[in-house]
Amino acid sequence: MTLILQVVGPEDPSLREAAAVLAAGGLVAFPTETVYGLGADGLNPEAVARIYAAKGRPATNPVILHVADVGSARPLVAHWPEAARVLAERYWPGPLTLVLPASEVVPAIVRAGGPTVALRCPAHPVAQALIRAVGRPLAAPSANRSQHLSPTLAEHVASSLGGAVDLILDGGATQAGLESTILDLSGTRPRLLRPGPVTPAELEALLGAVDIWEGAVQAGARQDAPGMAERHYAPRARLELVAPGAGLSSASGRVAYVGIGALPALPAGVRGVLLPMDAKVVAARLFALLHELDDAGFTRIVMERPPSDEAWLAVRDRLQRASVKEMA
Ligand code: TXA
Ligand code: MG
Repeated sequence: MTLILQVVGPEDPSLREAAAVLAAGGLVAFPTETVYGLGADGLNPEAVARIYAAKGRPATNPVILHVADVGSARPLVAHWPEAARVLAERYWPGPLTLVLPASEVVPAIVRAGGPTVALRCPAHPVAQALIRAVGRPLAAPSANRSQHLSPTLAEHVASSLGGAVDLILDGGATQAGLESTILDLSGTRPRLLRPGPVTPAELEALLGAVDIWEGAVQAGARQDAPGMAERHYAPRARLELVAPGAGLSSASGRVAYVGIGALPALPAGVRGVLLPMDAKVVAARLFALLHELDDAGFTRIVMERPPSDEAWLAVRDRLQRASVKEMA
């Protein structure tokens, strides 16, 4: 049985218990400012292997190491470029993950056998306190079964991973609601691998031009950011994207319609959900809303496409992926 402990702040005694579980090679789900992570001692290959087993995650998909500060990131990389220094100074702790050439300290399983490591310094006080209490980098993917929606509440973790995790630290709803921005600094030019709370414009203001990687990845190959595999972050319900204001002419079965900024008239029996025209608010609520509709038994979710400007990039990205139909 999975133990769920409420955690109210960085001084909470539940953190000591969680640190002991991690030090012994166990799995602890914990809140970050983006989504809940499924943590293990990132320098213990057997512990990291338990993450892959719990998530049903392919061995080709590397995991992020979470550190408390720049000082603990340095031994994990072969080289700390000027761009990393500038970005970490501005955005760490915060929702920006940097991909860098790994040092020999990083176990192969963390890197999925590749030459680079993804590093993130989370801003959530519970995540910070947990990393410091363990005194080691924590490997932590999002705390969900592979290909499913990321968790923004402790209950999401419990229902997705059930008994596969030793302890869940319940710190309430996460704030950003979408996963961190991932920037690859291992090549000749900075490359955005996953859009997130830190936008391309913010990165470019510090770095100059940033490439945006949009390639679809080949199944089974080691991927640039395998989280970018086409179908990902998906609810169980079928998700369709429609033009703003499109509405529905008729509907059968349990259907929800999600409008942004306004809700058109809907056929009887359709559940209408109105989200505000505010990218940050929609990002924070999106996964929780999809989880909620899934749990309530909706089998079809029709959602209006968000605006095409950059503020909505991460939301559009997750919706696009969630709405791709499963391949046979
Ligand atoms: O906000 C977040 O980043 C959350 C919280 C828990 O920190 N974590 C998260 O981890 O989203 P995960 O594993 O669900 O997504 C991490 C993504 C995956 O797509 C993975 O392929 C990519 O990061 N990644 C990890 N290591 C990488 C590497 N060395 N090179 C390129 N991509 C990497
Ligand atoms: Mg994930």
